[in-house]
Order: sequence, then C-alpha cells, then structure tokens
Amino acid sequence: MLAKTPPMGWNSWNTFGTDISESLIRETADVLIDSGLHDAGYEYVVIDDCWSEKKRDASGRLVPDHKKFPSGMKALSDYIHSKSLKFGMYSCAGTRTCGDYPGSLEHEFLDARTFADWGVDLLKYDYCFKPKYLEGHLLYKRMAMALRSCGRDILFSACSWGTDGPENFMRNAGSHMWRSTGDIQDNWASVKGIVAKQADLSPYGAPGCYNDMDMLVVGMHGKGNVGFGGCTDEEYKTHFSIWCLLNSPLMIGCDIRHMDDVTLRTLTNRELIAINQDPEGRQPYAAVNDNGRLVYVRPLENGDYAIGFFNLSDSPSSICLNFWDIGLPTSSGYGFRMRDLWLHKDIGFVREYLRIPLAPHACAVYRAKVAKS
Ligand code: GLA
Repeated sequence: MLAKTPPMGWNSWNTFGTDISESLIRETADVLIDSGLHDAGYEYVVIDDCWSEKKRDASGRLVPDHKKFPSGMKALSDYIHSKSLKFGMYSCAGTRTCGDYPGSLEHEFLDARTFADWGVDLLKYDYCFKPKYLEGHLLYKRMAMALRSCGRDILFSACSWGTDGPENFMRNAGSHMWRSTGDIQDNWASVKGIVAKQADLSPYGAPGCYNDMDMLVVGMHGKGNVGFGGCTDEEYKTHFSIWCLLNSPLMIGCDIRHMDDVTLRTLTNRELIAINQDPEGRQPYAAVNDNGRLVYVRPLENGDYAIGFFNLSDSPSSICLNFWDIGLPTSSGYGFRMRDLWLHKDIGFVREYLRIPLAPHACAVYRAKVAKS
C-alpha cells in the first residue's frame, strides 16, 4: 500500500522554479543522505515543473530538456535509487503545464508508461490549461487509472489547489495526496491562510490519501521562487508543527545544500515527525479556536495524545486547555504525563488544565499520556 503515512521528501519548486538541472537534483539527493534528512524519514526527490522540452517526440513521448538533464531521466532515477531514495516527477492534467510545457491531456496512458520506464515513484499532477468542456475529476480519475495499470507503484500526488471540490473525489479517484489550497509562499500570511483553510477538511485525510497543505517553506528565509518575504525561525517551527499535526505530506522546499543548523534541527525534529507519521493517521480536532489561538488534539496509536498550542495572532497570548474539554474530567482521578516535543523534555504530571504563554506566531507541542500521577 502506498502512502500508509504522509509522504516525505524534497521538491524543486519552492526554491528553484524553472532553474533546475540534473546536477542540482544529484547534489540534493547527496545532501538528503549526508545531512541525516533521509534517516529522519525524507525519501522522495521530486522534480517539479519545467523539466521537459517544449515539444513531445515523433512518437508522442515526453522528452527531458537536453540542457537541464543531458543524461536523461532513467540515469537520474538510477542515481536516486542507488542512494535508497525515491524519484518523483511532475505533469499536468491540461494541455500544458503551469510553466507552459507539454501537459498529459490525451496522453495519460503513454505518459504513465514513460514515467514507469524511467523508474518514477511519485507523480505530482497539476491543473493548468484544463479545457473547460472537461470535468476535472474525470482527468484525475484517468491519470490515476493510467498509473495504476502502468506496471509500477507510482504515488499519485494530485494538485488542483483546492478548486472543484477535490476533498469530494480525490481519494475515491485513487490519488494518495491532494492539494487543499493555492500555492504556499514563504511568508507568515500565507502559512496562516493555509491553516485557516483546513478547518473543515479534517474528515478527508487518512492512511492511503492525505490532505496536502503544500510544500514546506521552512528554511527558505525569503530566497528562491516563492520566497516572498520569508519567515522567522519561530514561524517556521510553528508552520512545521501544524503540518505535522494535521498529517500533511512533508515536502521540503528550501535549498538543503545551504541550510543552516536551525533549519536542519526543525526539519529533523523526530518527535514531531513521529506524530506526522503515526500509523493510525488520525486528524486532530481543534479543542480551542479563538481568534488565532488554537489548540489541536489528536489521539495516537499507542494511546498517547498529541496536543499542540498555537498562537497565530499578532499579540502575546496565554492559551488555556481545560482537560474537561477533551474528555478528561478531574473527578476521574487522571491527568496527563507530558513531554515537550520542541524542548525534548518531560514536563511531568499535569492535572485539570494547562495554560501556556506564547509569543506571537509561536507554538508548544506535547505528547501526553493519561496517568494517575
Ligand atoms: C502550480 C502548483 C505548484 C507548482 C507550479 C509549477 O502552481 O500548484 O505547486 O507545481 O504549478 O508551475
């Protein structure tokens, strides 16, 4: 089964846009291994848009850009696989991709076979240049079927930016993750906007197919293709924590060849990744949701709970979670033994409530175990 847990990896778009090449992809694969990112769970190396020639060949096949990828995709794929990583590529449901390269419309089955021949393990499938007379859900069903019959396991990453009700059909169509919003940008307003749009989507993400909140901007610091302004390290931590709690795929978008230590520490917070990758794959509910003051609570496979406090507002706030509100009355005699997942420290036994003071845009995330003392 593909996508038992949310897919993790790196994608070229956020930082590099059209400026991609086989050397960039190889270097990134090397760094995924050498930095410990792969050990922490990141495995897909995904080439986004702008990788092909502008025209198909005489037999109708997609052709890699000769200048950017002179050795071709099979050689690159072999290199990525030799590192025990997985290889992801990109196409589009319309006539052209968003970057104006050939799309897969009316070539779905041939393209799926081509991707299989190249050893592709994930296909991101965009939604630009879709003819008006065709319904989007049909095109995602079509590519899902082409991939499912191509002879290779290829994870299907659907990307219709939340338009045309993807929550209603993407899982049923056979995709493994589906984009729930428009494109992320590397700034706080964008991160906050994406979080707000998840409010009604929690029933739709589960093992086999996850709500995709878009690639991470952690560590971009305003550089690159979607680097409009940048975030602080604290904001990146909050962004990462919410993506983890809400079961979003974790696709790194920064240039990991030049990331700083804080970025690496954020991206490899294994205690948070364990929440994201929890085998039960439950979505959290919002136990507190008050003008940007949020507490998400989520049951985990081993009986623990993940509890995240988030101050998305612009003023310092003290956020209080009454355990009564999440099913734990004091009269039961129980409280929580809690561990702080950013400080990597046990904070001990807590009864009745927890009140956490948080700076603007900051968060605190805990793993909690029901206990008597
Ligand atoms: C769309 C997608 C992005 C990226 C670009 C590439 O905007 O949503 O994630 O793939 O296309 O052109």
